[in-house]
Amino acid sequence: MTFDLFSDDLEDAASPRDKEAIGPGASVLRGFALPCVDELLSGLREVEQRAAFRHLVTPGGFTMSVAMTNCGRLGWISDRRGYRYGEHDPETGLPWPAMPAAFVRLAQASAAEAGFGGFEPDACLVNRYEPGTRLSLHQDKDERDYGAPIVSVSLGMPATFLFGGLARSDKAARIPLVHGDVVVWGGPDRLRYHGVLPLEDRPHALLGSRRINLTFRKAG
Ligand code: SIN
Ligand code: FE2
Repeated sequence: MTFDLFSDDLEDAASPRDKEAIGPGASVLRGFALPCVDELLSGLREVEQRAAFRHLVTPGGFTMSVAMTNCGRLGWISDRRGYRYGEHDPETGLPWPAMPAAFVRLAQASAAEAGFGGFEPDACLVNRYEPGTRLSLHQDKDERDYGAPIVSVSLGMPATFLFGGLARSDKAARIPLVHGDVVVWGGPDRLRYHGVLPLEDRPHALLGSRRINLTFRKAG
């Protein structure tokens, strides 16, 4: 008897074949994080205990509606002086918590699945959204080299991800993201504008009225 692991009737929602191209160097890996959600959530609790979520202020003086924290050697911060990466949590003066092993494994497997082998993230920005929270269109460009992709993991409430072009005025595609989805963008798509529409309150079984996004980068 032959057995095809990927025959249609055996393929489930989390199959690595659920890869949607959203650009020449960008894809959505549907459900790719589902097999390791428990480890991700326990890693998140550890990170949160050592580096609490906070609302950063932009250089222009606006308080961001998304609450943020970091893990990994470098953390992304914003204040009146600008946007940058740093080795210490400015709230505590301590190094950012280490990236939990499950985070690193998922980031590397996602990048490889999307065609970017050898990804070595040194920064993980953790975003927390509540109903009404949005993230306006921006480029991720504070990293030292753009050779590595961005890997972005969605947990909790669904959201609409905006994936624009290389100019802010380019029309953005609206991509629905749910718990467990991973988006990877790199190569020619590395500097595309992106953002998140204001979240609706559609509580999630594990996370309630919250959405957590883990964004992995090679920053240093
Ligand atoms: C980000 O651009 O840092 C986050 C994107 C998201 O929350 O999906
Ligand atoms: Fe971003």
